[in-house]
Amino acid sequence: MFLRPPRLLLLSTLIGSIASGWAHTLPQLIEAHDELSAFGTILGRFPDLLGNLTARGGTIFAPTNTAIRSFVSAEAGVDPEAIDLSSLTRELVSDFFSYHYLPLSLRAEDLSVRGGALVETSLLRERLANLDGTPNVVYASAYGSTGLEIAPSPLKIFSGVGQESNVTTTDLEIEGGGFVHIIDRVLNFPRTCTDTAETASLSTLLDALVRTNLTEVVDTTPKFTCFAPTDEAFRAAGIDLDALSTDQIADALKYHSIVGDIGYSTAFEDSQQYETLLGVNVTVHKREGQLFINDVAVERGNVIMTNGVAHVLSGVLVPPVSGSPSGTGGGDASGPGGSNTGAGAAPGPSSTRTADAPSALRVGKYALMSLIFATLVLV
Ligand SMILES: *[C@@H]1O[C@H](CO)[C@@H](O)[C@H](O)[C@H]1NC(C)=O
Ligand SMILES: *[C@@H]1O[C@H](CO)[C@@H](O)[C@H](O)[C@H]1NC(C)=O
Ligand SMILES: *[C@@H]1O[C@H](CO)[C@@H](O)[C@H](O)[C@H]1NC(C)=O
Ligand SMILES: *[C@@H]1O[C@H](CO)[C@@H](O)[C@H](O)[C@H]1NC(C)=O
Repeated sequence: MFLRPPRLLLLSTLIGSIASGWAHTLPQLIEAHDELSAFGTILGRFPDLLGNLTARGGTIFAPTNTAIRSFVSAEAGVDPEAIDLSSLTRELVSDFFSYHYLPLSLRAEDLSVRGGALVETSLLRERLANLDGTPNVVYASAYGSTGLEIAPSPLKIFSGVGQESNVTTTDLEIEGGGFVHIIDRVLNFPRTCTDTAETASLSTLLDALVRTNLTEVVDTTPKFTCFAPTDEAFRAAGIDLDALSTDQIADALKYHSIVGDIGYSTAFEDSQQYETLLGVNVTVHKREGQLFINDVAVERGNVIMTNGVAHVLSGVLVPPVSGSPSGTGGGDASGPGGSNTGAGAAPGPSSTRTADAPSALRVGKYALMSLIFATLVLV
């Protein structure tokens, strides 16, 4: 589900929302919750940024004091106790609030639907939201990072660099019809592909991007989806970048990339094909509580980036061999040879064709990888 305000109806909808007589204003609500005092200090610093926004409803994710202190200390590189919240810049406060404010008024139950909910925030600054002019998003789910887990768990909000924030208190109503939900970690700002990979210390991926000079492309192309095998997935597939030509690595990266419509898990349909930058399709499956790209399981889904989304993969995607006797070329890559999660074993057709090559080369001709990962969080 993708929850976004209708562009033209937005203002009238918001203005039309009815304030309940007894609800708190946002400042009153913050005042009444000790654990939100740091949030109050930050918002109080530039009251004009808040303006009348919340009087028109909306949804606010309010981080606890502990969440804010650890976030700011990570951003500024200082001891949490030494932080002076009143010294934050206007730009930081503005971006921070924009990413924690959704124009739509949503209850926890709206965000806890099976499959998860992709929701538009107010974050528009291009450095953080390079999506052809639309605001960046967060992903809300009570069914894990892909929204497909069988049993529900408490609601979480997924943001930049794989950050997971638990919603600890839900549905605090504010004047204007809006809701405040308290979260135990700040929503992490979206980062570029290479920043995300770097933050997560993914040296193989960074290496591949640098070797192919694709860093700028993956960081600046709006509406980008990348499938990102972990370092362990590369190792298990026996991939050695030194054994591959730059073109081979670039092709592999392209097979792990989609440009155009963004492949959030909510946008993917079961058993549908999606065209990669390489021009060869991948097939998405939703089954057994997991999301699969070809037959590779997504280990961590919906890592929000400035220009789209990354899904961290437990294996490496291998395009089918075109013109192979089994005829898998060109489209459906979901067959048994469509991926490689094993230790260096190439799909049948390509190993017959290149029987003399070292295993990394056999795999590598069609193999490889991706852009981001992000099993680590920032704070
Ligand atoms: C906020 O709302 C009040 C009352 O509705 C109005 O008078 C004021 O102009 C508004 N301020 C802004 C910045 O919109
Ligand atoms: C969020 O909840 C999970 C359990 O679902 C827990 O393991 C984790 O520590 C919590 N996060 C924080 C920051 O407390
Ligand atoms: C790297 O790519 C950028 C554009 O993405 C281009 O301007 C630059 O010339 C390329 N550098 C090399 C060495 O190919
Ligand atoms: C690849 O996927 C696209 C989009 O779903 C579809 O239109 C196209 O027919 C597919 N190509 C092949 C060769 O199956």
